Amino acid sequence: MKLSSKIARLGTETAFKVLAQAQALEAKGIDVVHLEIGEPDFDTPKNICDACADALVKGYTHYCNSQGILPLRVEIAKEIERTRGVSVDPDRIIVTPGAKPIMFYSILALLEEGDEAIYPNPLFPIYESMINFTGAKPVAVPLREELDFSLDVNELKSKITPRTKLIIINSPHNPTGGILKEGDICAIAEMSLEHNFFVFSDEVYEDIIYEGKHFSIASLPGMLDKTILLSGFSKSYAMTGWRLGYAVMPPELVDPVVRLVVNSVSCTANFIQHAGIEALTGQQDSIPKMVNEFKKRRDLIVEGLNKIPGISCLLPKGAFYVFPNVKKLGIGSKELANYLLEEAGVATLSGTDFGSHGEGYLRLSYATSQDNIKKALERIEKAVVKLKS
Ligand SMILES: Cc1ncc(COP(=O)(O)O)c(C=O)c1O
Repeated sequence: MKLSSKIARLGTETAFKVLAQAQALEAKGIDVVHLEIGEPDFDTPKNICDACADALVKGYTHYCNSQGILPLRVEIAKEIERTRGVSVDPDRIIVTPGAKPIMFYSILALLEEGDEAIYPNPLFPIYESMINFTGAKPVAVPLREELDFSLDVNELKSKITPRTKLIIINSPHNPTGGILKEGDICAIAEMSLEHNFFVFSDEVYEDIIYEGKHFSIASLPGMLDKTILLSGFSKSYAMTGWRLGYAVMPPELVDPVVRLVVNSVSCTANFIQHAGIEALTGQQDSIPKMVNEFKKRRDLIVEGLNKIPGISCLLPKGAFYVFPNVKKLGIGSKELANYLLEEAGVATLSGTDFGSHGEGYLRLSYATSQDNIKKALERIEKAVVKLKS
């Protein structure tokens, strides 16, 4: 049977593949340190779990509004107003099972052959995958280590054409942990208003910032109507497995995206959305606690990596990833990631899993204990020494 040519253009997220490889090694009794998967290793706060259990007992176990239940959308609107300083109508908010479906739905709703979408490379791989899937042209702007993995806005500007329909930004950034400068965000907003294209602003790591405060393009004048603002609960509240995310949409995208929700999943689980209300309205102290611990781990892993000959690593300002430069080891990133898994029992991702401009880098998630990080560093150092001898 010949499959559709469209499906051949669909990429994937390698983290899940490497996780399966690592688990296969573990099944054979090999000890693996997991630095591949991007999820907080903390438990979901108890008040959120209790709210979910309560919602189940109360019978919130049926289909519900495809756009998301109104009480949750009202709380999200309040949260956006509190954090971005803009008033949002809950009718412009769409709740989905995780933040990821918003990428799928909005890119599908927006792009087609003949359109162009500009995106930073490296980037969370689903963006490039989805642009390719629609047949639109992916236009990469390389992120450079010399610029702290921030976007070069002049280079970005040079890539705009009359066909540009979308620019994707992600701050704090996966995989580099980089943060966009406020001035650069303002420059991108100006370009969007001048050239009339949408901005997809992925802000799922908004709470995991070590220096300064999160700044959203949606808070700039006129930008709420031009921005698909993506965020969710996975990272801030350690709720990756719950599958709960949301977007604030430009008005014309709301109906098409809700139709895509209806055509695919019908709605997001009702009781999970009640847990989301508790996440937003309950105690917030788990977030600073988690960020404090991430900061210690970040310092530990960056210091350790910089001590390994042939590896250098910037100090990221956000998210829970490091993106060390491994060019001096003289081996391709993918090959190195495989070697570290097989030889040292350390699961990492190749920088190229996030786009071709990730060559020469690895992505390590430090969402794991300090003991695991120390163990991983010792193992990486030993394996690297062996590689060079
Ligand atoms: C940049 C970025 N956006 C979105 C997501 C997806 O989040 P969710 O698990 O809520 O679908 C991730 C997950 O790793 C991510 O790194």
